[in-house]
Amino acid sequence: MIHCKSLCKKYGSVPALDRVDIHVREHKTTVIMGGSGSGKTTLLRLIAGLEPPTSGEIRYKEEDFVHMPRKRLYELRESMGMVFQYSALLNSLNVYNNVAFTLHEHTDLDEEVIRTIVTMKLEQVGLRGMEHLMPSELSGGMAKRVALARAIAMDPAIVFFDEPTSGLDPISAGVITSLIHNLTEKTHHTSVVVTHDVDAGLSIADHVVLLWQGCVIAEGTADDIRHSADARVKQFIEGSPDGPIPFSRSTTSYVEDLMHKPGTVRLAQ
Ligand SMILES: Nc1ncnc2c1ncn2[C@@H]1O[C@H](COP(=O)(O)OP(=O)(O)O)[C@@H](O)[C@H]1O
Ligand SMILES: [Mg+2]
Repeated sequence: MIHCKSLCKKYGSVPALDRVDIHVREHKTTVIMGGSGSGKTTLLRLIAGLEPPTSGEIRYKEEDFVHMPRKRLYELRESMGMVFQYSALLNSLNVYNNVAFTLHEHTDLDEEVIRTIVTMKLEQVGLRGMEHLMPSELSGGMAKRVALARAIAMDPAIVFFDEPTSGLDPISAGVITSLIHNLTEKTHHTSVVVTHDVDAGLSIADHVVLLWQGCVIAEGTADDIRHSADARVKQFIEGSPDGPIPFSRSTTSYVEDLMHKPGTVRLAQ
């Protein structure tokens, strides 16, 4: 469904992604894993069309996703749902209006029809009857579920999730993980999930891509990753502090930093 070739993204001189090739398969769950700062969110934002790559190719069902006219990009983006890391619900709107938001913005459907759709989506995430609650009245897990209901309100062909289980207790995390799984299994959506949660990621993945310092260091099925001989992959899977992935990624000299050389961060007085 989505093919990326030699994707690079730089923020200033910092390379967040370096020649990444990935393939998102239709009706499957692709899980992008990696430690913090490895480029997961950046990759998700590029393949969701939220920002352009510095160089490289993205093909969305054979269309050139990088150079297409803005109008076509917006059309395609309507067939994509996004669950952001911090749920990103609109605090002044209740659950009903959050889930109905894109339907109100992008369709001319009657409110009766919108109400039916919202009821179905909230049932799907186990929150029917909670329409009147405000975001401040929701637990972290409930907020994620509302964000999921909002993301699927327009029946998108593909749904992107950024760290869907981070900050949740194990039970809420399990609920979200199984909802994502059901979405692909039962309703044949395509999902792309970014996570540093190894167990959750491997449990739902049809295909795993492991990033390290902006590069793909392994990909394959969950079993391929579990049994990888690569020391960096093993360290990530086992969550071991010692190994080829260093604890400190500072690029400047420690002594120079302590001496407050120009260009280094100083402590507040
Ligand atoms: N908007 C930005 N401006 C500058 N640097 C950024 C920006 N977004 C990400 N980065 C940098 O790119 C690298 C990858 O970040 P990110 O994709 O957020 O990683 P992850 O989601 O795996 O934690 C990090 O070094 C981060 O500091
Ligand atoms: Mg991230």
